[in-house]
Amino acid sequence: MEKSPVIIALDLPSQQEAENFLDRFQGAEKPFIKIGYQLFYRVGPTWVREKKEQGYSIFLDLKLHDIPNTVQKGVSSLLELGIDFLTIHAAGGSEMIRAAREVIDQAQSNLQLLAVTQLTSTDQTMLNNELGIPGTIAESVVNYALLAEKAGAHGVICSAQEAKSIKKSTSGSFLAVTPGIRLAGTDVQDQKRVMTPALAIENGADYLVVGRPITQAADPVAVYQGILEQI
Ligand code: C5P
Repeated sequence: MEKSPVIIALDLPSQQEAENFLDRFQGAEKPFIKIGYQLFYRVGPTWVREKKEQGYSIFLDLKLHDIPNTVQKGVSSLLELGIDFLTIHAAGGSEMIRAAREVIDQAQSNLQLLAVTQLTSTDQTMLNNELGIPGTIAESVVNYALLAEKAGAHGVICSAQEAKSIKKSTSGSFLAVTPGIRLAGTDVQDQKRVMTPALAIENGADYLVVGRPITQAADPVAVYQGILEQI
């Protein structure tokens, strides 16, 4: 079955709230959900496996970053959950990414490994003065995307603004998954580089990650379906 191009960031504080939210989608097709630190550290792997078995597509956003052997063993454990997408930090280097990909291939899994390039919280001063990386954020993002692709990642997480240059620099099948999506005329909250769903797709995004515009809506299902229609 074709996966939905809209991934709902399930940034909720408890299993109960996550269940209540998902219950609203009863009758509709099960959405593609992103589970990050907040929920994963509360619900644990058992809940993730259960959701997968119930038919949800799952993006586990754990942003792995450690020595290659440790990351490889971690991915190996996560493979048992049957998840669809998993994040890893490109900053961990090619050997680490390759080690993660190796174990995915060995298991003949369809898990898509997505590299995080520069976090959207990193600004130019931090990049140059704290991290010691020369050049612009845009250059560093493309650099990391190329490194990630060469090492075996299936795609990257990037802002919709960066999607176009990443798609241009990488192969056609390399995925651009973009958070920072906001509906026209709504609050951008703490996101800095936002784009509407339609524009993000136009810029080359393959999947959109949408959190609060859906989770905090009075009618989340209507907003979710509205976004699907827009793209
Ligand atoms: O609520 P909102 O739509 O801003 O949620 C976006 C989601 O994407 C959050 O889970 C956030 O952690 C994640 N994310 C992001 N920017 C990145 C990487 C991940 O907003 N660079």
